[in-house]
Parts: sequence; structure tokens; C-alpha cells
Amino acid sequence: MAGEEETMKTDLKGRDYITTAEWTDEELEQALELSSDLKKMFRQGIPHRILPDKTVFLLFFDKSTRTRNSFEAGITQLGGHAHYIAAETSQIAHGESPKDTGVILSSYGHGIAIRHDLVPGEGNAYMREVARWATVPVLNMQCDVDHPFQTLADLMTIREEFGRNLRGLKIAVSWAYAPSYAKPMSVPQGLIMLMTRFGMHVTLAHPPEFRLMEEPLRMARENAERSGGRFEVVDSMDAAFEGAHVVYPKSWGIESLFGKPEEALAIAARYKDWICDSRRMALARKEAVYMHCLPADRGYEVTDEVMDGPQSRVYPEAENRLHTCKAIMALTM
Ligand code: CP
Repeated sequence: MAGEEETMKTDLKGRDYITTAEWTDEELEQALELSSDLKKMFRQGIPHRILPDKTVFLLFFDKSTRTRNSFEAGITQLGGHAHYIAAETSQIAHGESPKDTGVILSSYGHGIAIRHDLVPGEGNAYMREVARWATVPVLNMQCDVDHPFQTLADLMTIREEFGRNLRGLKIAVSWAYAPSYAKPMSVPQGLIMLMTRFGMHVTLAHPPEFRLMEEPLRMARENAERSGGRFEVVDSMDAAFEGAHVVYPKSWGIESLFGKPEEALAIAARYKDWICDSRRMALARKEAVYMHCLPADRGYEVTDEVMDGPQSRVYPEAENRLHTCKAIMALTM
């Protein structure tokens, strides 16, 4: 259970990791414990080849820096090997089915990781269909609903900062303006679903057009009730930042407009003042930390002063992507 000292060990071999919601608190604790152990070993140069000769397939429908490289480096450090598959250069582009992809890749290796995050209603369903036929674990490298490797790394980072018991700590998950592209909704959705489980007071802030999907909102409300945390939605970044221990401002798109990115970006441009700057950081607690899954649109979502400042934890947060993805692969593959 979150907040208790002992973690009961479960055999997680063969388990999918598609959303954090499908793993119990104890199972997530087990993953976090192993992440910390692997981080220590990595830093001390202690070999930890616990997946010798195992292969993970990394199937990408979207771009990536952190996810691809943390998986590729991670599986190598565990003694295995990754195959990078760009969906558009595979037979998926000619219509090969998720069933055939899942069955065949299962016969070649030991895990299938998938990123399919840019079309609401598609990515999560696609990976569940692969998982239905695969005989190896399916790992979600980001879908339209959740980004469970990111949020696990975020939870690890917040605990490193504030300790294991997060009850009563306030996190502001806020929309921020970005002109680069309509970013997926899965990070804020994953955050509100996960952090409410651990007793945090989660305040979600966004302009009215940027509402998140219904199911993650429902789960966040239920989780907060169960854990003794809190969940509220406001329409002001300032209000969300007030008294926060953690601020996590980032951009996302509009659920109904992912097929029309210009329209979504035009609406977003009405809210250019939704930026994380030093004035807003001063609304949070003195010890507050700034987090972002990255990539961030510097000068739009966040000022350089904040991103490169003493309260920023974006680089340790990105580093923890390596340790958490290794832990999940080691437990499941
Ligand atoms: N945070 C994250 O998932 O980064 P990439 O898109 O670079 O993988």
C-alpha cells in the first residue's frame, strides 16, 4: 500500500503495463523499489544484466527522444537488445493488423512496447488489441489515454524530493501554451489518475476548450476519495500554483481537434499568457519544484529562467525514465 514501508512482492512476469490503473499500489511500489535499486547500480557502475539475450520490440507511431533512448539504453544495460520499428516503414503502413503484429513479434522476442499517442480513441485500443494476441508483455510507451512510464518516473522524482509519503502535498497540473504542435493529453491524464492514488492534492488547470477525457477525470475523482487526497479542476494557472509543492505546467491539444491541428493551435494562441514564469513560481511554496515530461517549448510553456533555475527538476525527472523503464522491463519480461 502507498505510504507503508514493506512492499509485498508479486510475480509480474508476463504482465502488460498499459495503464498504471491496472497495477495495484503494491505492484507500483515494487516497480519503484526496483527502479531505485537499478539507479544505484547504474550510478555505481555495477552490472545488472538481469534480462540476458532478451529482445524488446519498440513500435513507434510518433517521434521520441527520451522514451526511445531510455528503452534502448535500458534493455542493453539489462543484457538484452531492442529493435526499433517505425510504424510507417513497417507493414503496418500497408494495413497489417494488430493481431498479426502481436502474434509474430511474440514469436521473435520477449516484449512489445508501443507508442501510439496522437489520435484520441486509437492508441490505447490498438495496444490492447496487440495485447489480446501477444504472448509476451505489451508495454505502453504513451497512448492517447496514459503515459505510464512517464508518470511512474514522475512519482519517483517527487518522492526523491519530498519523501515516500506524499499525502497532503499539492501538485498543480496545468495546461500551458505551446506553438509547436498539439501535444497528447496522456501526460496530464496519467498524472491526475496516478497522483490522486497516493494521497496528493491534485489541482488541474486549463482553459475551457482543453478539457481532458471523461474517464481519467472520473478515475481521478474516485482515487482522491479512496486515498484521502483531493482533486479539483480550475480555469486559472495562478490559482493552481498557489501553495503548490509541485508544479507541472505543460501543453496539450483539444480532444476533438487532433485531426485539425491548425484549428487547435489557433485556439491555443488565445492563451499565450499561460506560461510558467518566475512570477507564477513565486505563487507556489518556497520549496516547490518545477517538472515537465519534456520536450518543453522554451519561451512559451516555460521561461528559460524557470527551466534552468534552481527549482527545476526536469533533468532528474528525465533520467528517472531510464530507471523506471528498466524496472518495468525487468519485472515483466
Ligand atoms: N517525455 C517523453 O515521453 O519524451 P519523448 O517524447 O522524447 O519520448
